[in-house]
Amino acid sequence: MILDGSSPAAIEEAARALAAGELVAFPTETVYGLGADAGSDAAVAKIFAAKGRPSDHPLIVHVPDASAVTAFASDVPAFAQKLISALWPGPLTLILKRREGVAAAAAGGHDTIGLRCPAHPVAHALLLACARATPPVHGLAAPSANKFGRVSPTTADHVSAEFGDALPVLDGGPCRIGIESTIVDCTRGVPVLLRPGVLTREQVEAASGEALRSPGELAQQAPRASGTLESHYAPNARVRLMDAQALQTALDLLGQDASGIAIYSRAIVRTPSDKLLRRRMPDDAAETARQLFAVLREFDAQGVRLIWVETPPDDPQWEGVRDRLQRASAG
Ligand code: TXA
Ligand code: MG
Repeated sequence: MILDGSSPAAIEEAARALAAGELVAFPTETVYGLGADAGSDAAVAKIFAAKGRPSDHPLIVHVPDASAVTAFASDVPAFAQKLISALWPGPLTLILKRREGVAAAAAGGHDTIGLRCPAHPVAHALLLACARATPPVHGLAAPSANKFGRVSPTTADHVSAEFGDALPVLDGGPCRIGIESTIVDCTRGVPVLLRPGVLTREQVEAASGEALRSPGELAQQAPRASGTLESHYAPNARVRLMDAQALQTALDLLGQDASGIAIYSRAIVRTPSDKLLRRRMPDDAAETARQLFAVLREFDAQGVRLIWVETPPDDPQWEGVRDRLQRASAG
């Protein structure tokens, strides 16, 4: 059931349900999360069951402010502290060494923990209400509120469509950012980018004062993150990425009665048939990130077989969108 996220009574009701070990979905500025008390292994088990996600895939724990970090993390390197000071609250998740005996199920049994302080006012109000609840909840484990491997939800309706009407969903409107947070691993001595988001490498490097590495650059392999699996964020239709010219050539080869294909491109292409669905990709990376998952869901809802997407520009601003589209088109 969808609850009004701007209602203080709804926030209190959601916090009570979470403190009682129930699941509640809530908005963040990136995507909607499926939340549970991070301190309760039984509550967290409900997330893995609802998502169909393997229980060794770690979840992100959401905290109301930077002071909650030490409740979950045993060690915060200086560069991680700088990232927190500069970029929280915001679309940045840090992987830190986990405090022993804390949030083991949320961490998927790993000895590290992913922490994020979301900037959405409804998420913030919920986290504060949870901290005041009886018993208090100090952090919310919350993966994106979608079934395992599917596209993340950016509206309350998307969440209800995934999990049905029984799940309480706080409605905070459409997500402002639209793709998941940037993830930086801070457990290996230097910052390592595990998942790009809307923050550019330059922004992360300026904030941390260190060069940002890629997992492949370091000798030891990073733990496998589900958001880093090749085929992830996939709609039902097959996604194919092509440059504008290849897209036009492919369209020219289609006959008059071509159907079941959707096109998402910046270039204005000639389509052979007016049965093809078409959405224009914005020129702006942030605007594209905001609408990307909703557009993929919309095409799926229309029952198309194929989604042909123009490859986004090879520009730092577009890294997060490129990453999601590459994964959506893998496999
Ligand atoms: O924007 C976001 O990050 C959203 C909102 C709800 O906060 N959450 C999100 O969660 O995208 P999820 O579970 O869909 O993706 C979390 C990613 C996964 O790839 C997971 O493997 C990785 O974070 N992760 C979490 N904890 C980790 C850890 N301890 N070590 C390595 N990766 C971790
Ligand atoms: Mg996810």
